Amino acid sequence: MRFKPFSRKQRLALEWWALPETSSYDAVICDGAVRSGKTLCMSLGFVLWAAASFDGTSFAVCGKTITSLRRNVITPLLQTLRSLGFSCEEKTSRNYADISLDGVGCNRFYFFGGKDEGSAALIQGMTLGGVLLDEVALMPRSFVEQAIARCSLPGSRLWFNCNPEHPGHWFYREWICRRQEKNALYLHFTMKDNPSLTENIRRRYERLYSGAFYERFVLGKWTQTGGLVYPMFKKSLHVGEPPSACSEYRISCDYGTVNPSSFGLWGRCGEVWYRLREYYYDARREGLSRTDEEHYRELCALAGDLPVKTVIIDPSAASMIACIERHGRFRVIRADNRVLVGIQRTGEALSAGKIRISPACTDILREFTLYCWDEGACSDAPKKEHDHAMDDMRYFVMAELAQNGADCFFAASTRRVSAVKRKEG
Ligand SMILES: Nc1ncnc2c1ncn2[C@@H]1O[C@H](COP(=O)(O)OP(=O)(O)OP(=O)(O)O)[C@@H](O)[C@H]1O
Ligand SMILES: [Mg+2]
Repeated sequence: MRFKPFSRKQRLALEWWALPETSSYDAVICDGAVRSGKTLCMSLGFVLWAAASFDGTSFAVCGKTITSLRRNVITPLLQTLRSLGFSCEEKTSRNYADISLDGVGCNRFYFFGGKDEGSAALIQGMTLGGVLLDEVALMPRSFVEQAIARCSLPGSRLWFNCNPEHPGHWFYREWICRRQEKNALYLHFTMKDNPSLTENIRRRYERLYSGAFYERFVLGKWTQTGGLVYPMFKKSLHVGEPPSACSEYRISCDYGTVNPSSFGLWGRCGEVWYRLREYYYDARREGLSRTDEEHYRELCALAGDLPVKTVIIDPSAASMIACIERHGRFRVIRADNRVLVGIQRTGEALSAGKIRISPACTDILREFTLYCWDEGACSDAPKKEHDHAMDDMRYFVMAELAQNGADCFFAASTRRVSAVKRKEG
C-alpha cells in the first residue's frame, strides 16, 4: 500500500504514546468525519505502541462485527505491517494474530466483534495490555466496559475511534465530555486530515449528506437530529412527471389496520426510480377499516397491467403477507426494517437524485413536509406520525438501493463500464 505523507492529526494518532507532550495519557479518542483517516493511523499506532512497550502480551482489536473488523481494519493493517517488516501470523479460525518485529518480542492480538453474539463473554476473563475499539459508538456499552476492564496490566492503554452520533450517546457523555477526568487525549478529525482524499471526493461526500447526518459525517460533530428527517427533499429536484414506460417495477407497502396503509408503485428509468402512483388508506379518517382482501384488491389495482413481480412489505404485516402469497401473483420481499440505517440510505438516495416522485403522489409529498425527528428522544428517532408513505419508501430503498453512498457510486460506475463494453462488443 502506498501512503501519502501523514497529516499532523494522523501523526499524532500514530505516535502520541511516544511524544513527550502526550505520552502521559492513558487513552486516546479519535472521532470525526467519515473517511478522515482515523482507523488507518490508529490501528498502526496501536501495534507499534504494543511492540515498543510489551512482549508476550495479549491485546484486543475490536470492531462492530468480526466481518467488518476484518474488512476495514485487520486486512489492511496486516498488509501494511508486513510491508514494514513485521512478521504476522494470523490464525483466522481462532481470531487472533501473533505479531513480531525482527523475530524479537511477540504480542498476540485477539479480534472481537462487539456486536456479535457472545462477544462480551469471550473477552471476559482475559488480561490485556491494551484494547483498540474501532467504531466504538456502534458497540454495546456492556461489551466496551468489559473490554476496558480487561486492561489491568501496568502501562496498559485504551484506544478508541468513532464517527459522531446523538449527543446523548453514552460514549460521548462518558468519554468525550469527561476526557480530562479519564486522562484521555482527544483528537478530532475532519476529511482534510486524510491526505489521500481529493477535493472532488470530499465534495462528493458533502453532496451526499444533509441535515444532522451532514453535521456528523462531514463536519464530524455530535449533533442532535432535529427538524425534518429529509431536509434534502426539494420539490424542484425531486418531483417530476415520470416517463411513459419504465424498465422494471416494484411496489412497496407499509401496512396498517388502524393506522394508514401506504403502498407505492415504483418504476425504474435508467439510474432513477420514479414513484409513479400510490394507494394511501387512512381507516380513521374514512371511519371504516378495510380487510386484507380489500387492501389486496387495491394492490392489484395499483399494479394494473404493468409487469410488477415484486412487493416489498413491512415484515410485521403477517396477515397481509399471507394474503399476498395466497394469491400467488406477486413475489413478497420482507423489508429490512432498520429505521436509522434506512433513513440514512433514503437520504443518500434522495441526495444522489436516485428517487423522483410523480406529482400524482400527493400523500407522500405531504409527508415529506411533515415527517420530523423526535427532538425529545434521548437517541435518534423520528416522530411516529406522518410516517406511512415515508416507511414504504424506506422499505423500497432498503430493498433496491441499500448500498451506502460510496457503494452506490461504484455500482453505477460498474454498470456504466458494462454498458460501454456491451456496445463495444
Ligand atoms: N496517509 C494516507 N495515505 C494513503 N491513504 C490513506 C492515508 N490516510 C488514510 N488513507 C486511506 O483513506 C481511507 C480512509 O481512511 P480510514 O479508514 O483510516 O478513515 P476513517 O476515518 O477510519 O473512516 P470511517 O470513519 O469511514 O471509518 C482508507 O482507504 C485509508 O487507507
Ligand atoms: Mg474507521
